[in-house]
Amino acid sequence: MKRLVLMAAAATSVLGSAGAVRAEDGYDLWLRYRPVEAAQAQGYRALATELVAEGGSPTLAVARAELARGLSGLLGAEPPATPTVSRDGAIVLGTPASSKAVAGLKLPLERLGPDGYVIRSVTLGGRRATVIAANSDVGVLYGTFDLLRRIQTRRPLADLDVAEAPKVTLRVLNHWDNLDRSVERGYSGQSIWDWWKLPDAIDARYVDYARANASLGINGTVLNNVNAKADSLTAPYIAKAAAVADVLRPYGIKVYLSARFSAPIDIGGLKTSDPLDPAVRAWWKAKADEIYRAIPDFGGFLVKANSEGQPGPQDYGRTHADGANMLGEAVAPHGGVVMWRAFVYSHEQPEDRIKQAYNEFVPLDGKFRDNVIVQVKNGPLDFQPREPFHPLFGATPKTPLMMEFQITKEYLGFATHLVYQGPLYEETLQADTWRKGRGATVAKVVDGSVYGHKLTGMAGVANVGSDRNWSGSHFDQANWYAFGRLAWDPHGSSRAIAEEWARLTFSNDPAFVRPVVDMMVASRETMVNYMTPLGLHHIMGRSHHYGPGPWVAGGERADWTSVYYHRASPEGIGFDRMATGSNAVAQYAPQAGRALAADEKNLLWFHRVDWDHKVASGRTLWDELVVRYSQGVQEVAAMRRTWAAMAAHVDPQRHADVAAYLAIQEKEAQWWRDACIAYFQQFSKRPMPAGYAPPPHPVSYYEALNFPYAPGI
Ligand code: GCU
Repeated sequence: MKRLVLMAAAATSVLGSAGAVRAEDGYDLWLRYRPVEAAQAQGYRALATELVAEGGSPTLAVARAELARGLSGLLGAEPPATPTVSRDGAIVLGTPASSKAVAGLKLPLERLGPDGYVIRSVTLGGRRATVIAANSDVGVLYGTFDLLRRIQTRRPLADLDVAEAPKVTLRVLNHWDNLDRSVERGYSGQSIWDWWKLPDAIDARYVDYARANASLGINGTVLNNVNAKADSLTAPYIAKAAAVADVLRPYGIKVYLSARFSAPIDIGGLKTSDPLDPAVRAWWKAKADEIYRAIPDFGGFLVKANSEGQPGPQDYGRTHADGANMLGEAVAPHGGVVMWRAFVYSHEQPEDRIKQAYNEFVPLDGKFRDNVIVQVKNGPLDFQPREPFHPLFGATPKTPLMMEFQITKEYLGFATHLVYQGPLYEETLQADTWRKGRGATVAKVVDGSVYGHKLTGMAGVANVGSDRNWSGSHFDQANWYAFGRLAWDPHGSSRAIAEEWARLTFSNDPAFVRPVVDMMVASRETMVNYMTPLGLHHIMGRSHHYGPGPWVAGGERADWTSVYYHRASPEGIGFDRMATGSNAVAQYAPQAGRALAADEKNLLWFHRVDWDHKVASGRTLWDELVVRYSQGVQEVAAMRRTWAAMAAHVDPQRHADVAAYLAIQEKEAQWWRDACIAYFQQFSKRPMPAGYAPPPHPVSYYEALNFPYAPGI
C-alpha cells in the first residue's frame, strides 16, 4: 500500500513539471504518437493540413483512422478529411482504383507487388501534397505506418521519394498458445486469444495487436500451438478462429491454424490418418472446405509432425512430403499454403540430433507440392543463444524454405533478461551458405532469390501475451519489432532497427538513443558470454529451460540432456562434429562448413578440445571460459549503469520496470557463471585464473536448486 502511494506521488510531481515524461505502461508499444516538440511540429503540420482519402474499403478506413490518430497525437490536431485536395500540404492516400488523384499521378507501382507502396512529395492542382499509394489497400496501410514512423523518428517529410516492397511473402507470427490460454514457452502472461469467450466477445486487444503487426508488415498469424490439439479444427473452434480473422482482416493479416496430424482419428472418427488413405484425404478436403466457408481468406496449416511425440506420416511408413502434400492438396483450391516444420528428430536414432532434419528433408527435395513450404529453425538444434545457421538453408534447390525464429526467449533468459535478438537474427540471415557460390546468404535463400522461389516466408514464435506491455518486458517488444522488420526485409540491419525502435518506444534524444542502442546491440553477445560462451549449447535447466543445468543427465532421452552436448570430461570438452566425430560439418557447403568450424564463436559446437587448448586470446580454453563467463556478468552490471543514467529520458514507470529486470538479469548472470564454472571445474581440475573469484558454492548447491513453478511449460 505504502509503495502505491509513493508511486502516485512521484507520478504527480513528474506530470506537474512542464515537458516531463508521462508515466507509461508499455501498452502503446511503438505506436505511442506522443507530441512532437513544438519547434518541429510546425513544419510537420504544414505538410499535413488535410487528409484526402477516397474509397471506402475497411482497410482504407483503418489506414485513414490510423493516420488521423497518429497525426493528432503527434501534431496536436487531427487534420480535416476532405474528398479532394483543397489546401497546401495535403496527405493523399489510396490505390489507382480507389483514388482519382492517385490514378492521375501514374506512379511506378508495377514492380511493388500487392504489398509495396510509394510515398512521394508531389504537386496536385498546384498544391503541395504527400501521396501514399499502392496497388492494394493493405499496401496503402503499410505506407501509412511508414509515414507516421517518419514523423515519430523526426525524419523530414519534404521531398519524399520512397518505394518499398517486402522481400518475403509470408510474414507470420506463430503463437504457441493453447486452448486453455496457457502459452508454451510464453513469459508474458496468458494467451491473448480468449478462446473461451470467443466468438461472442471480442477483446479490444485484438485490434491493437492487428495494428502493431500491420505497422511492421506482418501479414499472418498462426493462432494455436504447434503441439496442437485437434479441437482447434472442430466447428466451435473454427467459429472462434473466424471471429479473430474478421478483426484482423482489415489489417491485412490472415489467420492460420496448426493442424494435428491425427485429427482424422481424434475428431473425425476414422481409424487412421495415413496420408495415402483416400478416406483420410477426403476428410482433410472436407475440413478445409469447412474452414474456408467460415474464413474465406484462411491462410492454411502449420504442422509439427513426427517430432517430439507428435503424430505424423511416418507413423504409417509415409514421408513428410506425403503428409504435407495431402494437406497442400486440401487447401490448394482455396489458395492456402502448408507450412511444414523441419524441426524433427528422434531419440530412437543414434545419429547426432542436429543432423537429423537435414538427413530427413534433403532426400525429399522436389517432392513437395508447390503450395508447401518447409519451415526451418534458424539453427539445427533449438533456438540456442548461438547456433550456426541450419544446414538445410540452401540445400534444397527445389523446395522453398521459410525461416523460423523464436521471438519468445525460451533459452535467452525469459522476459527478465534484456537480450535484443536483432543481432542473432542478422547473424543467421547474413551467413553465407556458399550454395551456388559466394554470397548465397541465408537471407537470399529465404527471400527466394537464390533458387528463384516465389513462395517465401519468415515465421517468428510470438512473445505476445496478456501482459499489459504485451511481451513480458518493455525491451522484449524490440524483439517482436525486429522480427517484423526483418521479415519485411531480411537484409536489414539490426542496429538500424534497434535505433528506430528505441526512438519510437522511448525517446529521440541522441543522449538516450546512442547508449541504449549500443546496449541493445551488445546484449546478445553478453548473454552468450554468461550462458554459453565459445560454442557451448543446450546446458540449461531441464524441461523448463530456466537457468544453468550443465549437470543435466539421464532421464527419458539423451538428446534432452546437457552432458550429451558438452561432453565434459577430464580430457576436455565439446562435441566433435568434424570428420573425426559426427561429421555434421559435412552437411554444409565446404566453404561454409570450414568458415563455421574455424570461428571461435562455434568452437565447442564443432570441436572437442582439451582444457589447455590455446584460444585466440593466447589463454587456455579453461581460462578463457572463466574469463568469458565473468565478462558476461560485468557487462550486465554495465548495462545497469547505462540504464540508470537514462532516468531523465524515460517515464518513471518504464524506467523502474526495466531497472528491476536488469537487477534480476545481473543476479542470474552471476548464477550462470558460478554454476557453470563450479560444474566444469570438476572436470578441468584447473585453478581459477589470477584475479577471478571462485564460485561461492560447491556445484552440489547449484544442482540442488529446483524450480517447479518456472513459467512457460
Ligand atoms: C522446443 C521447445 C518446445 C517446442 C519445440 C518446437 O523444443 O522447448 O516447447 O514444442 O521446440 O519447436 O516444436
